[in-house]
Amino acid sequence: MSTTTMGVLRETAGRERRVAMTPDGVTRLRRTGVRVLVETGAGRHAWFDDADYAAAGADIGARPQVYDESDVLLVVRPPEDVTALPAGRVLIGLLDPLGDPALAGALAAQGVTAISLDLLPRTLSRAQPMDALTSQANVAGYKAALLAAEAYGGFFPMLVTAAGTARPAQVLVLGAGVAGLQAIATARRLGALVTGYDVRVQAQADIASTGAAVLSLEVSQNGKDGYAQAMDEDVAAVQLRALTQAVPRFDVVITTARVPGGRSPLLVSEDALRGMRAGSVVLDLGGGNVAGSAPDTRTVTEHGVTVIGAPNLAATVPVAASTAYARNIVALVSSLLPEGRLPSESNDEVFAAVLICRDGVVVHPRLKELEIR
Ligand code: NAI
Repeated sequence: MSTTTMGVLRETAGRERRVAMTPDGVTRLRRTGVRVLVETGAGRHAWFDDADYAAAGADIGARPQVYDESDVLLVVRPPEDVTALPAGRVLIGLLDPLGDPALAGALAAQGVTAISLDLLPRTLSRAQPMDALTSQANVAGYKAALLAAEAYGGFFPMLVTAAGTARPAQVLVLGAGVAGLQAIATARRLGALVTGYDVRVQAQADIASTGAAVLSLEVSQNGKDGYAQAMDEDVAAVQLRALTQAVPRFDVVITTARVPGGRSPLLVSEDALRGMRAGSVVLDLGGGNVAGSAPDTRTVTEHGVTVIGAPNLAATVPVAASTAYARNIVALVSSLLPEGRLPSESNDEVFAAVLICRDGVVVHPRLKELEIR
């Protein structure tokens, strides 16, 4: 049997600086018996040169060659030229098929097989080395704290000098999943006084275990499979009112709240923004958690509050994010595609969970429910 070729594509999404495979990852992939073909300049924005990939044993080629010669194509985010994908290829990435169900249809129409890492059953211990949502959320939460600290006009830590004492910043983190807990930990390392809040009861215990204070509101839920569930409108309104009271006490607010397959909840209202002191900072990582925030945009309200929309912060720490992502891919390929080949049949629950479409047919049960053909 001929050797399988794994292609690494340059990312095409705007502002995306990550790459799906690092030179170190190439070394590990090649140990599984595959050839690796990297698109020219694929790692450039993460400071991985073509020469580094070549030194790790990869071949380098232009995009058409990568499409033509690869059996498996590796990406972080869906390629913008989906219609260039040759039939019969396997595409692996964070494809977000539930957020963009039309993509699954488009991939199926190309006759490809697609595997999406965001559908991984994250609580299975076998899947944890492949958990790209977690690895990327960790990076994003870390950067959120740094970005908020940079935008804030004061110190995060209490500083005692002969000339006087500067008070520490009061930071509130809303949503304490992977990104929120990392933002809490990073803001605490910077010396801020940190408070966390999450609607899930378990996440409230997670906040307490970091040593941060827990903001208690009347609204809470047990969640399902470790995730929050969308709330009824009246409950959401109670939560928003309570947060509008609480938020103005803080200098910096970082929001990370998401609901899988649903819209991110609004947690910081216009009234809350109006109540905050001039110079305060609100950073929206959840996308849609803050009134008036827009992706990749920094605005200052007329009351002097800086609002930062930052839904894809992992892309701004490309070395750490790509390194972690490449490890997730190597773990997935080693476990699910021995020697780079798809199993002809599989009753592996991890494989079934991440497979969106196979040879042009949508097979994922949740996508089939959405009637994507
Ligand atoms: P996510 O990105 O879907 O959401 C972020 C956070 O927002 C969640 O904690 C959620 O409860 C919170 N949230 C949603 N709506 C909210 C609202 N209205 N108000 C306040 N908070 C709200 O979640 P993420 O980070 O992907 O983590 C989900 C869960 O998966 C967590 O329980 C995490 O611990 C768990 N997990 C478990 C793993 C394991 O067992 N190995 C691995 C990775 C994650």
